[in-house]
Amino acid sequence: MEYKHIIFEVSEGVGIVTMNRPEALNALNLEVVAELDDLFSRIDSDPEVKVAVITGAGRSFIAGADIEEMGRLTGDEGREMVLKGHHLMSTIENNRKPVIAAINGYSLGGGNELAMSCDFRIASEKAKFGQPEVGLGIIPGYGGTQRLPRLVGKGMAKKLILCAETIDAQEALRIGLVDKVVAPEELMDTVMGLARKICAMAPIAIDVAKSAINSGLQCDLKTGLRIETESFYRAFASEDRVEGMHAFVEKRPAKFRNK
Ligand code: COA
Repeated sequence: MEYKHIIFEVSEGVGIVTMNRPEALNALNLEVVAELDDLFSRIDSDPEVKVAVITGAGRSFIAGADIEEMGRLTGDEGREMVLKGHHLMSTIENNRKPVIAAINGYSLGGGNELAMSCDFRIASEKAKFGQPEVGLGIIPGYGGTQRLPRLVGKGMAKKLILCAETIDAQEALRIGLVDKVVAPEELMDTVMGLARKICAMAPIAIDVAKSAINSGLQCDLKTGLRIETESFYRAFASEDRVEGMHAFVEKRPAKFRNK
């Protein structure tokens, strides 16, 4: 697939996805949703990419779903749109590669929902966050009613969604919506530092640890521990486990398989 609205480059194992519709503050139209879904599926199986980063060109991360486009959709088409959005968010959330959101500016509506599907959220001091949908007569439809309360708690999620409140980066940090806030000029260095740290780890261990955490959060502790046992076994049975342990004993850096 050719990408009209996103730029993709790979640098030393890190796949950098840049939203590139700055004229619409990187709003998510149906075309870019399809492009992102295609790209993140490719990233999932690309041995050259160990960690993915998503950021926005210009002054916005993603200012939500494309309101102009949504205004032209029928009710049924709106439902289809939500299903496509859910598919994309799940492609990101369940990606075998960790995904870091480098939130450079507006993270609103569907943009904030996309950020919440990522494994880490690092924000610029200039970023702004919110779920403004109720002011447009709709509700968050790319997972926001479900992921936001799981991340920040029921009361705070209701405050953000029902009052359509926009908050700054420090408040987003305080409520646990983002993991770290940095000066705008430090954003990409901080994100790349985190990405490189993960790149040095065993890819299979990263993959199964991520999926054990995600799957375990959907079920009770007993089931979660069963998931952990099977996940542990997958890592333990791998060549990377042998290499990682031998490297430690031999006091040398581990050479993990690039998968
Ligand atoms: N969908 C479509 N276009 C959007 C958009 C969106 N979600 N958000 C911004 N844009 C467009 C604007 O229409 C404008 O286009 P134009 O230059 O052709 O008029 C351009 O991006 C710049 O936005 P503008 O509103 O002029 O910038 P601003 O700095 O005054 O305000 C925001 C920035 C983010 C506060 C404002 O654009 C906004 O409220 N956007 C909508 C956010 C939203 O409700 N998202 C959830 C959608 S479900």
